[in-house]
This record gives sequence, structure tokens and C-alpha cells, in this order.
Amino acid sequence: MLRKKDLLGLKDTSAEEIIEILDTADGMRKIVESDRKDENWLFGKTLITLFYENSTRTRTSFALAANYLGAREINMGVATSSVQKGETLKDTGMTLDAMHIDFIAIRHQMAGAPALLAKNVSASVVNGGDGMNEHPTQALLDFLTLRRHFGTLSGLKVAILGDIKHSRVAKSNLYGLTKLGSEVTMYCPGTLMPRDIEKMGAKIAKSREEAVEGADAVMGLRIQLERQTGGLFPSLSEYSAYYGMKDELMKYAKPGAIILHPGPVNRGVELTPSLIDGEDSRILDQVTSGVAVRMAVLKLLDEYRHR
Ligand code: CP
Repeated sequence: MLRKKDLLGLKDTSAEEIIEILDTADGMRKIVESDRKDENWLFGKTLITLFYENSTRTRTSFALAANYLGAREINMGVATSSVQKGETLKDTGMTLDAMHIDFIAIRHQMAGAPALLAKNVSASVVNGGDGMNEHPTQALLDFLTLRRHFGTLSGLKVAILGDIKHSRVAKSNLYGLTKLGSEVTMYCPGTLMPRDIEKMGAKIAKSREEAVEGADAVMGLRIQLERQTGGLFPSLSEYSAYYGMKDELMKYAKPGAIILHPGPVNRGVELTPSLIDGEDSRILDQVTSGVAVRMAVLKLLDEYRHR
């Protein structure tokens, strides 16, 4: 059983808990891909989606996950809420909690905001991405996609290329993949490589070819222009030329290697359109896994609360 009220990150989630989420999500994927998505495991429950940053995939898939399990989903539009009048996160959370809701999925520009919220509400809080810290359900859907393709995560070589410094996806992937027995190699401009990433278990490659050499999966990460203070690389076209994923790069990977990207993709910057849309791409499969993983997380958190 998932032994926590909230899912805030994978740093503090055990390998056993991750495996349980993935096993549960396997069953949820069958529901997502079926004609009838009307389970009632969460009948009568309410999820609030509280997104302080934009989202297409994460917010929508949390909403669908709740709906497919029989719960209600209410999107608290931050832009039209009392947050704009200066209401604090703690007060917003306590106000929602007083309405006796069951789950809050939150995305916030500040690292640690979901943890702060979780301390102040009795509802289960799920981190939908906090600043440059973690994006646990994204990493879990990446793991589900990898495990469905390869049958295991143990012994896999995963290359991660892109804006690692600003990427919460990279950090959650690194925490989880290393716990599950995968090897993670990273490559990006030195200005986008966090100083302590090797201490966290990543290998750093000297070139994109070295990073991809023998990889089972290659993950591109979005250049997060909204988090950059400027001057970290000369231009998007130079980033693409010297650090981007080109078609010929994949010949260094293992035969049958797959391509992942959390989305949204800057087409032609991190990856060529032919890689995004090609037969090795699992980018849309990741999106399907995202609904299944979020269904699994909501169900398991609910079971913990009612154990
Ligand atoms: N991968 C991801 O978090 O996408 P969104 O920003 O669209 O939610």
C-alpha cells in the first residue's frame, strides 16, 4: 500500500511504492483504453485542480482520472480566484479543505509549495509540478511507458537530454529510475547542468552521442524559456544545432530504442519533427499512461486515507 497521505515527490517514495503505483496503473490503462470509463472506486469524492502555472496534459489528465473513477473534479481557476486579491496558498488550501474536498492536485512555480499545502490540509495533495523541484506523476507515467515497452525498468539505460537545470521532470525521473535499477545518463550545455546531479546518481556524458550510446530510451526535455534568466545558451537555433536530438543521433542508441518527451515539445528545437512523429516516438503513449498513473495515484491515496 502507498504509505502516505500525499504524493509530493519520488525522492521520498520507495521503490516498492513506485512498483505498486505502476502495477495499479497497468490495470487503469485497460480502463482508459476501453469504451466504458465509468468505475466507481472514488464515487462521492472530489478533486480540486489548483494550477498556478499553465498545463495541458497534467491538469486535464487529473480531471479525467477523477471522472473515470467516479469522482467529481473542480478546476479552481487561479487567475479568477481570490489568489489575485493576495490570498496566501495556506489560506486557499484551508478554505478548500473546509469544503470537505478529498484531493488537491497542485502545480506551483515555487518549489515546496505542495509540501506547504499538504501540511495545512487534511485532503490528499498530489504534486503536479513545483518549480524546479519535482513532477512525480510525470516521472511515473514515463516509467509506465518504459515498463510496458521493455517489461521491466531494471537494467535499462535511459539518456536524458535538454534543460536539466530547470527540469522537475529530470529530477523526479532520476530519483525514481535509480531506485528501480535503471542507469541514467544526462547531457546538456554546462550552464543547464545542475552542480550536484552526479551526487543524485546521474552519469554526465561529454557529448550527445556518448549520452545516447547503448541507450534503451532517449528522453528529450523542453527548453524552459519561462524559467531562464537569460544567457544560458546563445540562441535556440544554436541549441538545436549543438545539443538537440537529430535523426542520426538515434543510430548510437540500441536497436529498438524509444523516444520520450514530457511535452509540450518545442518542435525543431529539442527534437526534430521526424523523431517526434516517427515510429520510435512514445510521446503520445506517455499521455495515455498519464491518465492511468493519475487514476492509480488517486485510488491508492484514497485507500491509504481509509485503511
Ligand atoms: N508534461 C507536462 O507537465 O505537460 P503540461 O505542462 O501540459 O501539463
